[in-house]
Order: sequence, then C-alpha cells, then structure tokens
Amino acid sequence: MVSAVLRRPTLTAFFSEMNRRAFLAMGMRSIVGGALAAIFAPLRQAFAGTSPRPRYFRRIVTRDNRSTALIEWQSDESLTSPKFFWREAGNKTELPADVDVKYFALDGHPMFVYRAALSGLTAGKVIECRLEASGRNAGTFSFRTDGGGTLQALIFPDSQCQTDYDTWARVSGEASARHPDAALWVNMGDLVDNGGSFSHWDGWQAAADASLGGRAFAPVMGNHECYSIDWEYCRPDAFLSLFGAPENGSVNYSRYYYSFDYGPVHFTVLNTQQEELAAFAPGLFEEQAAWLARDLKETKKPWRVALLHRDLIDYDAEPLTRDPFVETLVPVLEANGVDAVLTAHAHAYHRRRLRNWKRDQNGVLYIMTGNAGNCFYEVEPHEIDEIAFPDNFLNYLTLEANETRLTFRCFLPNGILKDFATLRKQAETSE
Ligand SMILES: [Fe+2]
Ligand SMILES: [Fe+2]
Repeated sequence: MVSAVLRRPTLTAFFSEMNRRAFLAMGMRSIVGGALAAIFAPLRQAFAGTSPRPRYFRRIVTRDNRSTALIEWQSDESLTSPKFFWREAGNKTELPADVDVKYFALDGHPMFVYRAALSGLTAGKVIECRLEASGRNAGTFSFRTDGGGTLQALIFPDSQCQTDYDTWARVSGEASARHPDAALWVNMGDLVDNGGSFSHWDGWQAAADASLGGRAFAPVMGNHECYSIDWEYCRPDAFLSLFGAPENGSVNYSRYYYSFDYGPVHFTVLNTQQEELAAFAPGLFEEQAAWLARDLKETKKPWRVALLHRDLIDYDAEPLTRDPFVETLVPVLEANGVDAVLTAHAHAYHRRRLRNWKRDQNGVLYIMTGNAGNCFYEVEPHEIDEIAFPDNFLNYLTLEANETRLTFRCFLPNGILKDFATLRKQAETSE
C-alpha cells in the first residue's frame, strides 16, 4: 500500500496568486447541484416562497453533546421576531430557546448569523426544533443527541476548492450517504481556499448544507481561514462568525481552539496558525499551550484525539523538517495520553505510529488525513511515515469508537477502502 510515486515537496498550489485573484474576481457558482438527501429535512424546504429566507441550518458541536446543542442558521436580511422552540420527540410541550444574532459583512455581503443554544437535553434522544419568524412557522429541524456510547464520525481533510465547490460537494455528499449513522462531521481546516471570500464560504456552505443534516459539525481552523480577500494574513473573522464552536475560557481567543466530547472520545481542537496570526493574536499560543495540558488532564473519556490543521512535517522546507510549531505540541500531546493525532494541510494521506518522533508500534497514531477539495499539492514521504499514499486523490476518513476500540478508515469517495488502523485498550474495571 506504500506508494513509490511521490514527487518534490512543495505546498505551492497549481494556481499562482494572480490566478487566484482573477478567479475571485470572476465569482463562482454558489448553488451545488446533485444534492444527496440529508438525514433530517432542512428548514429551507418549509420556508420556500417567503422572504427573508433563512438558510444553512446546522448543529455545531458543544462541549457536552449529550445535554446541550447549538443550532445555527443565516439570512441575508434581519429576521423579524425569530423564536426557536424544541422538544423531545414524542413530547407535546415545546420549550423556548434564546436566539442570538450576529451581523457582519463578508466581502461586501451582509450576513445575519443566528444561534439558538439548547440545554437540559437527554442523551440519545431525537430533538425536534421549530423556528418562527414574522409570526409564522418557518420550518423544522431535527437531530439526535449524543448517546454517550459508541461513535461513528466522518473526518474530512482540507476541502478548499478553486473554481467551484463541486468537488467538496461530491466528497462530503458521497461520504454522508454511505455512512448514514455517522453522528459527527469534522473538517480538518482550510475549509475554503480564501477565508475572506463570500463566494468561497457560500460554496462550502451550500455543499455542506446538502448532506450535513442533523449531524454535529466540528470546524478546525486552517491557515486559509486566515487569508483576506486580498490574500493577506488576517484575523479569521468569517470562520469565527460562521461557526459558534465551544468556548475555551479565553478572554481574547475564545473558539480559536476548543475541546468537546462525543461518545467515548474527547476531541481537542488546536490552532496551528502561529505564522498567519502572529500580528493579530499576541499571547494566543502561550495560553493555548497552558490550556492544552489542562484540557487533556481533566478528561475522563477513554479516548483522546487531537485535531491539528498543520502536520508534523513542514513540507515547504527542503530538506523536509519538523514543523517548528507542531514540534512544540508533540511532547505535550504524548505526555498527556493522546491516542491519536489527526492533521491536514498537505492534502495527502500519511500514517505513522510514533513516540518522540521515532517509529514505535505502541506509540501515538498520527494520520495526515488527505484531500477533500480540488487543490492538489505535491509532497514526498518522510522517514516517520509508515504509509504514504501518492497525492492527488480525494478521500475521507471514518472514525469508529467504543470503550475499548478506536478505528480509523480511509476511503476514496466511491467507497473503496484505502487504509485502516485500529487502537485497542483494556476496559477499566470499577471497584
Ligand atoms: Fe493549510
Ligand atoms: Fe490546505
């Protein structure tokens, strides 16, 4: 399964910066055709024919997905008197949830992002939600809370696309249709190619909206979320505005990094944009380092999985070297019992078992997750790699976990299994 056809290391995309600007000026298609059925009916169907029309309803992960949920949606215009109600399936009584709204302009486009935070939910139950706006029923949205037992999740590598987001629509759509029981989506960063572009975000969201359904979504920030419309480094304002990821206790950098539990897994989502955010986020990486050790020590979940956008290896360096920032995280992750580390950024699939940067079959499982968009890079294998597939194929991963087993599988969009790895541990016995 190990490839012998890997080329020179470069993270330069096949498009020049000038081409990127010309492409952005052209705009792009924002409506993705061929949508696969969502597991829960999106609200847009019930709201058709009225104006303004809320869209892109989705559920974002919370720290505890058994008892809480965050539902988001958007509108181009302010909704009149939005009211959000929820109930457990089978109950007649609806409970209200507060609705917050955030306005921001993205690339000249007005955006109203609404959020309803639900609490007091019961684990493993179907929750039925209803939105009212302008005094009228605006539709319904349903999801199932985390039951706390087993977990199946879909892991998508970089989904950034150029020209349109049809590739992302195809990969996410086929994966979601093939794994209807997956309760969680993770996108490993570089969701979009240009984090300041309305057309990029609308392309990503239209594609996601077609297949995410009631699954919980965990966004990981990538370096491309920190690029302005002029391709300068910037604060990830659009990313932070669009996704209400869990708070992390930080005064200045809430949601830049975070953690959450789903099933038997504790996920720790780290920010690796040290270079891009150097001028905008003083102190971010020092506070994240202190938080990381605390976060990993506090969890009682059987499995700890860290999600990083940047990989262990700096593929821009020649010869290849360790990524200087990720190198500071590795000892903390390994000293605090992390079982698996998922990375992205290089748009290729590499798998390793390492301890202190040395191959070790009892070490931490590191997977560089691949590519779910249409930007193809050229990378070469490194001595730490156990598996290094050739780049330029599209893929997604599944994660399946119970108390004693954690399995990752790498699939092509057509469902062909390319690779898998399983970790096992003894169940802890209570006295
Ligand atoms: Fe990246
Ligand atoms: Fe990327």
